[in-house]
Amino acid sequence: MALKPSALEVMQDAPVIPVIVLDDVAHAVPIARALVAGGIRMLEVTLRTPAALACIEAIAKDVPEAVVGAGTIRSAADAQAAALAGARFGVSPGYTHAVGKACAESGLALLPGVATGSEIMAAQEDGYTSLKFFPAMQAGGARLLKAWQGPFADVKFCPTGGIDMSNAREFLSLSNVVCVGGSWLTPAEAIASGDWKRITQLAAEARALR
Ligand code: 3PG
Repeated sequence: MALKPSALEVMQDAPVIPVIVLDDVAHAVPIARALVAGGIRMLEVTLRTPAALACIEAIAKDVPEAVVGAGTIRSAADAQAAALAGARFGVSPGYTHAVGKACAESGLALLPGVATGSEIMAAQEDGYTSLKFFPAMQAGGARLLKAWQGPFADVKFCPTGGIDMSNAREFLSLSNVVCVGGSWLTPAEAIASGDWKRITQLAAEARALR
C-alpha cells in the first residue's frame, strides 16, 4: 500500500470503511488493532470529538498496519489539521472547492460527500470520481445509485449513512459501488466496555461481505 493511497485504493481495500467516533484517546489504538485483526485496515476517524486528532495521531504512530483517515472534514482547516495529525485520507460529508483544494495541497486523498447530481458534477469538475454517497439511506438508497449508473457511469461510490449488515450486500452488488461506510463495526457500548473482541468479530463479518 502506497504511503498516500488514492481515494479509489482506500475504497477498494475492503467492503466496508468503518466510521469511528472516539471520545477517549486511550481507545484509539486498541480499536484500530481490533479492526485490523478482523481484516479491516482503512479506518475513518471522524473529526467530531475533541479527541479525534489525538486519536488519529496515536493510530498513525502505533498501528502501522492500519491506514487512518479523517472523517467529517468540513473546512480547509480540518483538512490541514488531519494531515498534520497523520491522516492518510479524508472523507467529507459534502463537497466544497476549498476543501478539495486544501486536501490536494495537504496530500490527502479525499472521498467527497455527495447526495445530488449537481454535487457529483461539482466534485467531478475538480477531478474527483471516487465519492461518498451521504446520507445514503435517507437520500435515496440503492435506487438512487442505480439511477446514477446511467448519467454518471464513470463515478464510483462509497454509500454511507444508515447501512449495516442487513442492507450492505444490496449496495455492494451495484456496479457503481466499491465499498460502503458505516459506524456499526464500532458500537459505542463495545467501545465503552472495552469489548475489542466484539469489534474484531464485527470487522471479520464485514470483511466477509465480499
Ligand atoms: C456518519 O458520517 O455518521 C456516517 O454516515 C455513519 O452513519 P451510520 O452511523 O448510519 O453508519
